[in-house]
Amino acid sequence: MKLIHVVGARPNFMKAAPVWSAISKIIDCNQILVHTGQHYDKLMSEVFFKELQIPTPDHNLNTGSDSHARQTAAIMIKFEALVNELTPNMVLVYGDVNSTVAVAMVCSKLMIPFAHVEAGLRSFDRKMPEEINRLITDQLADLLFTPSMDGDVNLKNEGIPESKIHCVGNVMIDTLVKLLPKADKPNRFKDLKQYVLVTLHRPSNVDDFESLKSILQNLETTSDSIPIIFPVHPRTKKIITANNLDIIKNINFHLIEPLGYIKFLGLMENATAVITDSGGIQEETTYLGIPCITVRENTERPITVTLGTNQLIGKDYYKIPDLINSTMNIKKRSNTIIPLWDGKASERIAEILSNII
Ligand code: UD1
Repeated sequence: MKLIHVVGARPNFMKAAPVWSAISKIIDCNQILVHTGQHYDKLMSEVFFKELQIPTPDHNLNTGSDSHARQTAAIMIKFEALVNELTPNMVLVYGDVNSTVAVAMVCSKLMIPFAHVEAGLRSFDRKMPEEINRLITDQLADLLFTPSMDGDVNLKNEGIPESKIHCVGNVMIDTLVKLLPKADKPNRFKDLKQYVLVTLHRPSNVDDFESLKSILQNLETTSDSIPIIFPVHPRTKKIITANNLDIIKNINFHLIEPLGYIKFLGLMENATAVITDSGGIQEETTYLGIPCITVRENTERPITVTLGTNQLIGKDYYKIPDLINSTMNIKKRSNTIIPLWDGKASERIAEILSNII
């Protein structure tokens, strides 16, 4: 029995790690790890393999960055050749990145059964490249593992047979639960009691110069009242540097390199608030009870708004300073528990796979 896991971009790594580990405990099979190379910087990839204890990939397709069509096509061409050689019984894909959809299309044309972990999420916004990836991957998948019941509803509405859908919970939270005891702030921020943690990489916020400039200006205003720590994604860094937007006058505003999982979790766990446009961070802050301001018009994770700590502000960046000021006075964390976000989602996946296999 051969099972291939495919990962490619940063948010895939924390999803694949617990699934790999849960499968190795109860299924007697040969697990093979393929990295598409979509993310390749040490700080965007290698560091996570060490921290999350994921084995070194058996194969790296080294595809790297490019336009959507070229990146997706490059992954398809290289993965098709590899999978023809490896002849797996099943492939597992994660999340909603270009690597996910590329592998889904290859598997489905070669009639190799594949499972989608984190299926059913929908922002209903087709301007988001990830939404296209989600729609296609879920239509083609043989097995769909959803993180919450809203995912099941979306899939059923799109005509996916109920027999393929399994609500297992959130595998990203499995990793968080496991590594929370090791979470550790970077040394230089150890003494900060209150601060806001920021991440931004969505094209809608960072590729547009005026939007990015306005976000940075509002963050700089906010940093008059509370320190801002902003680990900068390479995509965002390129645009900031090219436009000289990194001339920050306030010493409370820290633009730093991307962080590994343990250090980022240490900062997130203790943050006064988080400002982000990431998907996974909306979930992690909800689990941790940290107020989250999401600079997006919509979210494919609505449960983080209805039950969690998340609030969408779209492009109303001017709201950031006031919203942060009001969260600074919140003394107690909210501790909503989302059903099945309990650290055991991967065990449920392994259980289902072992029954099927
Ligand atoms: C990708 C995912 C996004 C996910 C994000 C997490 C798609 C369509 N998007 O976006 O859903 O939230 O990963 O980070 O798959 N770059 C580097 N080094 C790297 C990787 C990227 O410098 O290791 C730079 C390159 O300039 C590249 C740009 O970042 O062109 C964008 O990378 P890409 O993988 O295309 O998309 P992300 O913005 O990272």
